[in-house]
Amino acid sequence: MGSQGKFIEYIPGRKKPMIVAHRGASGNAPENTIASFALAFRLGAEAVEFDIHQSADRRLIVMHDEALDRTTNGQGLVIEKSYGELKELDAGSWSSPEFSGERVPLLEEALDFITHRGFALVEIKHGSDIYPDIERNIADLLSSRPKWKRRSVFIAFDPGILLNLKELDDELNTGLLTADPPEEYIDVAQEFRIQSFFPKWEKLKPDSVSTLHRNGYSVHPWVLDTEDDARKVLSMKPDSVSSNHPEMLFSLLSGK
Ligand code: G3P
Ligand code: CA
Repeated sequence: MGSQGKFIEYIPGRKKPMIVAHRGASGNAPENTIASFALAFRLGAEAVEFDIHQSADRRLIVMHDEALDRTTNGQGLVIEKSYGELKELDAGSWSSPEFSGERVPLLEEALDFITHRGFALVEIKHGSDIYPDIERNIADLLSSRPKWKRRSVFIAFDPGILLNLKELDDELNTGLLTADPPEEYIDVAQEFRIQSFFPKWEKLKPDSVSTLHRNGYSVHPWVLDTEDDARKVLSMKPDSVSSNHPEMLFSLLSGK
C-alpha cells in the first residue's frame, strides 16, 4: 500500500509505474462495478479508474455512459432517474450471467471499496452545466473523509471542472485528461491549478513524458491493452499505466 499515497506526485527515479485498472478489470468483469474493482486488485492493480454522472436527485453515480442502456437492464439517462430507481438496476448481466445482480455503485461506495485497497481515479464526465452543483456535491462528500482525499484523484477533460473542485477544497487531487499531445496543455495546467496529466497514450511524442516531468507533473497514460503498446509506453517511464487487462501489465512489470 505504501506507494499509493504518492500516486499523484512526480517522484524522480520511481522504480516501477503503478498499475491502473481501467473501469476496473473491465476486460474480465462488468465495467464500473464493485465486481470489476475487486477483480482488479486480485489481478495486481494498485489503482482503479472509473467514471461518474449525477442522478435526478443529485446522487453521484458510477457509470461510463450518460445512458443506462449499454451496461444495465434499464433505459434512458442517469440524469432522468432517482437513485431509488438506479439502485434496482442489474449492471452485470449484460457482461455475463455470472455477474447478474451486480449493482450500479454510488461514488461513496466506490471510494470506500477502492481506497481500502489502493488508489481511486474518478473521471467526472460533465460539470455543473449539465449536472447541477456536481463539483460542490463531490467536495461535500469528501469533506470529512481525509483517507478518501489522500487516495483519490479527480480527472476530467474540462479543466474548469478541476479548478472548481480545487477552489472548493484545495486538498482534492486533480488530473487533466488530454487527447492531444499533452505538453500543449502545460499552460492550462498551471492556470487551472492541475497537478497531473492523464494523456491518451497514442498522442504521446517520444519526449512528452520527460517534458511533463521536467515541469513537475506526474504522467498517467491510458489505455494499453496489448503487450507491444504497453512496452512502448513503459519505455517512456510514466508514473502509471492503465489497462482493461491489469493482469497483462502485472505480468509485464513483474517479469512473469
Ligand atoms: O482514463 C481515461 C479514459 O477513461 C477516458 O476514456 O471513454 O474510457 O472514459 P473513457
Ligand atoms: Ca474514464
